[in-house]
This record gives sequence, structure tokens and C-alpha cells, in this order.
Amino acid sequence: MPFEPVKPAVHHPPLKVADDTWLIQQTQEAAIGPLWVYLNSLVIKGSEPIIVDTGTPANREQWLKDVFSIVDPGDVRWIFLSHDDVDHAGNLAQVMEACPNATLVVTWFLTERHSCDFHFPLDRMRWVNDGDSWRAGDRTLTAITPPLFDSPVTRGLYDDRTGVYWAVDTFALPLPGPMDDISGLDAGAWRGGVEMFNRMNSPWFKLLDQDKFERHVDRVQKKDISLLASCHSPVIPRSKISEAFDIIRSIPSGDPPPQPGQPDLEELMHCVATGQQYVWQPPMPPANGA
Ligand SMILES: [Fe+2]
Ligand SMILES: [Fe+2]
Repeated sequence: MPFEPVKPAVHHPPLKVADDTWLIQQTQEAAIGPLWVYLNSLVIKGSEPIIVDTGTPANREQWLKDVFSIVDPGDVRWIFLSHDDVDHAGNLAQVMEACPNATLVVTWFLTERHSCDFHFPLDRMRWVNDGDSWRAGDRTLTAITPPLFDSPVTRGLYDDRTGVYWAVDTFALPLPGPMDDISGLDAGAWRGGVEMFNRMNSPWFKLLDQDKFERHVDRVQKKDISLLASCHSPVIPRSKISEAFDIIRSIPSGDPPPQPGQPDLEELMHCVATGQQYVWQPPMPPANGA
């Protein structure tokens, strides 16, 4: 099976990040340098346990083991899908089959988009749009569109019991290695990585009106957030939340980052063939700004 995705080389066990809340972790190495990206999801083990996003096909076996080391499949009551990108919906069928008592929390448009890959059982769904809340046993969960996103159906998830906000793809960045929270990275590398990654992932940032964008960010930030958890970042503790939103607010004022092209691919192939580590060097911007 030459096109099967490559399983992660390193296992990062589930990490308890708040009361009743575990981060299910996976890292993926970049092809263009010694950089890692997280591919996380979340389990909230309240009186009605919730799985938030469903991991990746590359990590299927380990992801299912990790999730069900925290919660029994028969106890899972909710599966919240932020959007249908494969790094968030990669084990949807497997987890729906394993958890017969779970209701899938999606939107109508998500089901229309993703029916080419999954049969959505009407009697096991709840359609929750941006701004909608529902009661999940001992907590109220609210779907809120995150500041930046790469799908029209993306909704983040706010847990009023712990104050954890699942920010989906916002705050994504590449890292030099795994770390339990963002405090392990220096401030310049954090800002540079988040700006670069979020501008690539939400290329419409160039179309934003700064004032309107600020109001959109305010809508999320005004929640009483104790911890930011997301798919492609270590968790961001309360002490770093204000700085994290400040970085996001600066996104519209920059330029799209350069990306590797065909000559870089050819150099990468040469390095792979000769057993060398390839490190992509972005082109320097012109000195005169032209
Ligand atoms: Fe995405
Ligand atoms: Fe993602």
C-alpha cells in the first residue's frame, strides 16, 4: 500500500490540561525542515463525556487507544466535529461505530459537504451553529467561530465549566519539538510561527478590514477563557492568552508568507536520495521593499 499515510514515529500520550479535560496528541514532522506540527484533539470527561474532533487516519490505531484509555466507548455521549478537514475528521466513522450512545454535533452544511465520505445518521446528529449552546450533563457547551479558520463550517467550542476554549486551527504553528504548553517556546519564535502559519491557513486575511476583524476576535476573547487548546499548538495557559490574541490581531497587517516551489522540491528529493537533512530557506524579501 504505497500511498498509505505514514504512522507517527513518536507517541505522545494524552495530556491532562484542565479538570476532566485531556489533549489527545499527535505530532507530524514537516518535509521541509526539522519542524513539528501538532495534530491534537480533545476529550472532556464530564457526566456526559465528549470527544472534540477525531484525529487523523495516519494515527488511527493509536488515537483510538488514547481516547478509550480515558473514556469507555459506551459512555461517550457527544462527538463534536469542528469541521470536516481530514486532520479533524480522520476517524469519524470509527469513533461513531465504537460509541453507539454518542450524538454527533455538526452543522447542516458540514453534513452536505462531507456526505461524499461519511453516511450521516439523521437520528444520531445535533446541528449546532455558530453561537448555539447545548447542555451536556454538568456543563454548557457553546459553539463559537474562532478568529481564523480554513473551512466555512468551522466552529470552536467553549466549555463553561472549565473555561477551556477549543480554537480549532487558530494559533497553529510549527515547533522545533514537542512541548506541554506554549511557555516552552520563546516569544519571537511563537509570534513568527503563528503569524506565518495562520496567514498560510487563512489566506483571506489580506481581505480583512482591521476594525471588523478586531470585533470578531473580541467576540471570542470576551469569554472567560482559562486555557486555549487547539489542533496545531501546545495549549496556551491563562498567563499567555492575552499575548496569543494580540498576535492574532496582527495577522491582517502582514504579507502572505513565501512557500517552497519546484526548485525546492527538486532539492528536497536530492537530499532524500543522498540521506541529507533538507532545510528550506525562505527567500529574503527585497531590500528596497519593491
Ligand atoms: Fe482545518
Ligand atoms: Fe487543522
